[in-house]
Parts: sequence; structure tokens; C-alpha cells
Amino acid sequence: MTKPTLLSGIQPSGDLMIGNYIGSIKNWVKMQDTNNCLFSLVNMHAITVEQNPEDLKKRTLDIAALYLASGIDPDKSSIFIQSHVSEHAELAWILNCTAYMGELNRMTQFKDKSSTHAQNINVGLFSYPVLMAADILLYQADKVPVGADQKQHLELTRDIATRFNNRFEQPIFKVPEPFIAPTTAGSRIMSLQDPTSKMSKSDANTNNFIGLLDHPKTILKKFKKAQTDSGLEISYDTVNKAGVSNLLTIYSVISGKSIEQVVKNFEGKMYGHLKVELGELVAEYLKPIQDNFYRIRKDEAELKAILAQGAKQAKNQAQATLQKVQQAIGFVLP
Ligand code: TRP
Repeated sequence: MTKPTLLSGIQPSGDLMIGNYIGSIKNWVKMQDTNNCLFSLVNMHAITVEQNPEDLKKRTLDIAALYLASGIDPDKSSIFIQSHVSEHAELAWILNCTAYMGELNRMTQFKDKSSTHAQNINVGLFSYPVLMAADILLYQADKVPVGADQKQHLELTRDIATRFNNRFEQPIFKVPEPFIAPTTAGSRIMSLQDPTSKMSKSDANTNNFIGLLDHPKTILKKFKKAQTDSGLEISYDTVNKAGVSNLLTIYSVISGKSIEQVVKNFEGKMYGHLKVELGELVAEYLKPIQDNFYRIRKDEAELKAILAQGAKQAKNQAQATLQKVQQAIGFVLP
């Protein structure tokens, strides 16, 4: 039996932080044996917001090294840079001609980003979800693990695929299933200073997130500064104690203990105890990942070779789909 195909990606638009690790990479590592996995660095998505070229280049390689350092194994999974597989851009164009302005106008991420980047509401930002649909449909992906904020884009992908398929006698695309980790498993790690919004790697305030490469002292300092409430009791209540609950969630995911167990551990203790213990726990947990990262990142030629290999594997699958699409819509094949 062939394994299901699983595809996901991260934008190299900021330095990876613990929310990316807990919400995405940590889960990807576990899915590698039972799925045919493709993990992409979606640099074409990243440029929908203006990027400094040197930073973009460095971050793309940093994140690739962090995938590897966290346990994504290039012998099991394909790790590749989106722009290395030109089929993404080609299919995105074709899909642009099937997606409606009205559907894209409804995307909440577009509305959010248009307000935060009001001076640069470019066409790419608008059709971003179509490129994402191309990423997914090119590989006939069965499963697409994403955070809850991407659910709307996945539904659009399903609509585009279904509409496209309906035009032809034979279905061209597999209609993918969203694979959204339940909140309790840590798919939503919140900002440290504003625990009502999601932790984001592109946040201007670096105190809001724990970077995967943060120094242990920085980690401790950021947790100590984390916003809590004026109460005293350590309990899990995401409405009235969003800050403390977020710290408990991170503690739970990193320690592998249930929230109840963690709450019990801290019975009678103060917020300060939780912050310090959490800081130490996270620093210790990240240490081997950081050590791996610095070892892998030193050898850029080897890292690029792994990415070239990943792109080659991805291209093989992408080409087959693109050809099927071109044939179906009446493009003369060379
Ligand atoms: N839009 C996703 C995000 O911001 C990143 C992404 C792009 C993606 N293409 C994808 C995720 C394909 C999953 C599959 O998180």
C-alpha cells in the first residue's frame, strides 16, 4: 500500500520560534514514517510582504537547518525551497484563472495583512491563497497539517480543486484533507506579552516569542517578563488567565505532561516559580536542537545539497501533475 502524501510549509519571513516548533515541526517529525512527506520553505509566499534580500536568503537556509536539527530526516522526507520547483508558479497562474476575486476577498488573512501593510497591498498578497493551493495540489497531497489560521485557505484549496475537477471527465487533483492539530495539543501558542493573540515569528516585539535559537538567559528573561494577571493561583483558564494558561500549555507540550499534571505540580506555588521552571525546561529542551543547528549550518554546501535533492524529488511529482493539468486545459505540450 502506498503511504499518504503529506505536505506543509513555513514562510521564511522571520526567525523560527517555539510556536512554529510546537505547532508544526514537532508534529511533522512524528509523521515521517507513516507518510510520504514534503516540507517546503515557502519563499515565494514570503515576498508578498517586503523582505530584505540578505535576510530572506539567510533565513531560508536557517529554517532549512532547523528542520534538519529538529529531526526532519532527508532520507525519509523531501525538504525543499519553493522557488526551486518552478511548477509552483506555473500552476498558480493556471489556478489564478479559476479562482474568483470574491472568494479571495473573503480571506481573513488578506484583510489582516492589508491593514498591517497598508502601503503595500500587492496583487501577490491578494492571490497568496492560490499559490498555496498550487503548493498542495501539485503533490496530490492527502493531508495538509496547518494551524487553525490557515483553515480558510485550505477550504479554498478544496473548492478550487473540486471546481477544476468538475470541468473534466477524470479528476485531475486529489481534494486534500485539512489536518489541524487540536488546540489542546498546542497548535495555538500565544504571544507572551499579549496572550490573546497568536505567537508570531514576524512580531516586531521579540519579547513576544521564544526564538528557537534564543540563548538560555534570553529565554529565562522573556518568560520572566511574560504577561500574567493580578491573581495568585496557578490554574488553567484561557479566558480569565490567558497568560498563565499559555505558560501552562507550553510547559505541558514540552514536558509531555498533561495540563492537569502540570497544574498539580505548581499547586501552592507562585507565578514566578512557573516562569523560572518553564524557562529552564525550555532552554534545556532546545539545547540539543541548537547544537545540531550550529553543526548543520556551518556546512552550507552540504545543506544546499540536501535542498537540491529535496527539490529534485519534489519536482518529479510536481511535473507529473502540471503536465496532466496542461493537457486537460488545452496547452500544447512541447
Ligand atoms: N500559508 C501558510 C502559513 O502562513 C504557509 C504555506 C504556504 C503552506 N504554502 C503552504 C502551509 C502549503 C501548508 C501547505 O502558515
